[in-house]
Amino acid sequence: MQEAKHVAVIMDGNGRWAKKQGFKERIKGHEVGASKVRELTIHASNVGIKYLTLYAFSTENWKRPKTEVNFLMTLMDRYLKNELPLFLENSVRFETIGNIKALSPKLQERIAYTKEQTAHFEGLTQVLAINYGSKDEIVRAVNEAVKIGDEVTQESFNMLLDTKNFPDVDILIRTGGDVRLSNYLLWQCAYSELFFTPTLWPEFSMEEFDQILQKFAKIERRFGGVN
Ligand code: IPE
Ligand code: IPE
Ligand code: MG
Repeated sequence: MQEAKHVAVIMDGNGRWAKKQGFKERIKGHEVGASKVRELTIHASNVGIKYLTLYAFSTENWKRPKTEVNFLMTLMDRYLKNELPLFLENSVRFETIGNIKALSPKLQERIAYTKEQTAHFEGLTQVLAINYGSKDEIVRAVNEAVKIGDEVTQESFNMLLDTKNFPDVDILIRTGGDVRLSNYLLWQCAYSELFFTPTLWPEFSMEEFDQILQKFAKIERRFGGVN
């Protein structure tokens, strides 16, 4: 049975969940969504996943109302502050992808500190995609390649991406019912197994996660060959 090393998640449906619960503010959904991140991180670590890459804020999410953007930024800061003891307890290494230079200096410091404190861990690596967009990542990598000036190979290009230290994605999960990639890991998902579920992110359960792992284990991955 094949095991997934790298699981990526598009955590969608927070706003719709808040509405469904009768909350006036979408942000209530983001708060509950953040606690789901905590639950999944511990669970994924326990079942032996090596990399869990979570879409927290896209390069397109700046288009949202300023109050929501500000709330999400504050939430990420608060999340990281609260999460550090959990990372230390569970030997979780923290990493990010995306252009974090556009974030507030305070949040950048928090990210740097959390990375530094957890850099030596070899269990699960939790990768938060913050101000991440695949097209932005690829264009930044292309500009690096132009600067270097050598002919580009798939391997050398891989090393210029934000994900350079992580293997390709085995499983991509999107909650919230939409069947699209929303500019997430386009290069890294070239051969991923895709799972779309109508479950809203705050309601996503560890049972559903385990079911996806079980389905994945039975999939015949051919990578263009024949078995
Ligand atoms: C995903 O939930 C979280 C972020 C994009 C930060 P949404 O906020 O997109 O929730 P819906 O899709 O509007 O329900
Ligand atoms: C994708 O969700 C981004 C994150 C989960 C952070 P969106 O809600 O932003 O995606 P679209 O706009 O519906 O494609
Ligand atoms: Mg959404």
